[in-house]
Amino acid sequence: MIREEDIQKIITVFKDNSSFDFSEYSDKSFKRRIEKILIDEGVSLDRLVKKISKDAKYLNHIKNRITVNTTELFRDSDMWISLYKPLKKYLKHKNAVNIWHAGVSSGEELYSMRIYLEGIGYNGVAHSVGTDISDKIIEVAKKGIYKNNIIANYIDNYNLVKDGLSDVENFKDITHYLISNTKTNLLEVKSEYKKNNDFQILNLINSDYNFDNKFDVIMCRNVLIYFNLDLQNKIIERFHKLLNSNGLLILGAHESIMPPLSNKFENNNNIYTKL
Ligand SMILES: C[S@@+](CC[C@H](N)C(=O)[O-])C[C@H]1O[C@@H](n2cnc3c(N)ncnc32)[C@H](O)[C@@H]1O
Repeated sequence: MIREEDIQKIITVFKDNSSFDFSEYSDKSFKRRIEKILIDEGVSLDRLVKKISKDAKYLNHIKNRITVNTTELFRDSDMWISLYKPLKKYLKHKNAVNIWHAGVSSGEELYSMRIYLEGIGYNGVAHSVGTDISDKIIEVAKKGIYKNNIIANYIDNYNLVKDGLSDVENFKDITHYLISNTKTNLLEVKSEYKKNNDFQILNLINSDYNFDNKFDVIMCRNVLIYFNLDLQNKIIERFHKLLNSNGLLILGAHESIMPPLSNKFENNNNIYTKL
């Protein structure tokens, strides 16, 4: 069992040796992560703190381990089905769309969106920005190459979306969007879904989000859940400023916007339209 003062030691060693400030992460999940890291690394807390303070590479490694990277292709199929009407309506008169995936992890969410835009018949130009705190995971996202068995686990997600929207759109089989290499057992997202993608390292806790343009859609799913409420609200305020009017903010299934901030949006199944 690690104590509150141990958690403070970890937060302090990061603050003293880097720009990473975990003080506004939710206590419970941060503590759970540290406990898991101690077991996996086979070190005591004091040893961990010492190593972080002495070795910048190790600090980065532990930072990447603190943040949870689990993601899926077409994660939460209900959301993709609910998104159909508001997104289709929003895109009706738009010949270009600018989308930000904040906390993009290894990129499956961003590529799902690109596939989805094609599936719902969007013919305009899509520009996608994927950002994450983890430099390592951003490199995976850029490549868009995944192990066959990882994608296989999520084909059901895609098929649920495909079937759920079959009355209105004709989504193709998932194989249409991916190139399979049977020798390596790898699947690569086709190059057309990699066009106009911009992947960047960005720490959502820092207040300087420097983008040239505003966004039509911001997806930030299963990220805010790791932060305390104050930090969640600060970030949602920044998202609101960065959205075009009537733009969409999409949060994860277990995330929501609380009053009074919720008055700035209309909420339909966790798809928030900027008012
Ligand atoms: C659980 S994953 C969610 C990925 C994807 N959005 C999804 O829903 O499948 C959370 C992602 O948030 C990133 N993250 C955590 N803290 C962050 C921060 N302060 N700034 C930016 N990204 C962060 C993690 O590195 C991780 O890739």
